[in-house]
Amino acid sequence: MSGVETRRVDAAGLAEAVEAAVDCLSAGEVVALPTETVYGLAADATRPEAVLKIFEAKARPLFDPLIVHLPGMEWIERVCALEQGLRRQVEALAAAFWPGPLTLVLPRQPRVPDLVTSGLETVAVRISAHPVFDAVVRRFGRPLAAPSANRFGRISPTAAGHVLEELGGRIPLVIDGGPCRHGIESTIVAPAGEELRILRAGPVAPSDLERFGTVRMISGVKEVRPEAPGQLASHYAPRTPMRLRVGDEWPEGVGVLFWRGQPEPRGRCEVLSPAGDLREAAMNLFAKLRQLDESGVTEILAEPVPETGVGIAIMDRIRRAAHRGV
Ligand code: TXA
Ligand code: MG
Repeated sequence: MSGVETRRVDAAGLAEAVEAAVDCLSAGEVVALPTETVYGLAADATRPEAVLKIFEAKARPLFDPLIVHLPGMEWIERVCALEQGLRRQVEALAAAFWPGPLTLVLPRQPRVPDLVTSGLETVAVRISAHPVFDAVVRRFGRPLAAPSANRFGRISPTAAGHVLEELGGRIPLVIDGGPCRHGIESTIVAPAGEELRILRAGPVAPSDLERFGTVRMISGVKEVRPEAPGQLASHYAPRTPMRLRVGDEWPEGVGVLFWRGQPEPRGRCEVLSPAGDLREAAMNLFAKLRQLDESGVTEILAEPVPETGVGIAIMDRIRRAAHRGV
């Protein structure tokens, strides 16, 4: 886990950290950056040789396309090919949710490298609301391709320490902007006429999208060929076997991920949100899962959370984490 430079960002250190990140990106290197959802591993989206380093560091298969993070709305038409109706729809969604945790899958411009889109005719785009990410991408002045900064299939990082655990020694620089506010990845939406197809549940809930079109939930654990190619049934996976907790069984040596309440005195357990706040639960989910995974328990039992609002996205992650094989 050596050879990685970590820059902590405090008020005084922001300009310096941004400079270090931009130098790295300009040299065609990757850099791990905080976003409001999870930490991302960023590279210049316009340079295939830089983007390739993302796939190498993550051991990510080339069939899984990347999200392009735009410096600002002025970039949308340079990256996406929007006919009039779609442009209006995108502008309305952008006005409501950008910068923020919403990714849109849209027809691509031919200049977007095939490596970024895995050869698809569409490209996924978003504008991040994180002040550090925002400062870096604007200063850099070009879009950044950035997947979550974990090894492929593993738990997404919500703190700089997690990035080091996942990718230490494989990347040159991590910018430490503290823990991520949402803690789960962006909602992915593909507009299709009147329909808004949710390819991945996230912090923007289906109910938030209803006034922009007919919402259809496409993401689901049972799908064999998901429309978002990275949404494989087994994902976000801890190394420890995990399953949903039913009833009060709690065998010896097992770790429990409670959704709310007080930690039980016996055994190994973590609580997502003592007060039962779904947003707090989402923020804590991956860090708590990681802690249980590293605690030496033989199995993780996860208590289900209510499937409303961001709870839908939490349960999507828990089911995938618990899913083994096909
Ligand atoms: O919150 C997030 O979205 C974070 C931060 C870093 O922005 N990024 C993230 O990226 O979660 P990643 O690569 O871990 O997940 C992106 C998902 C993958 O499942 C991928 O298959 C899907 O987006 N995707 C990318 N381009 C797509 C496209 N053109 N069509 C359908 N799905 C696409
Ligand atoms: Mg990911």
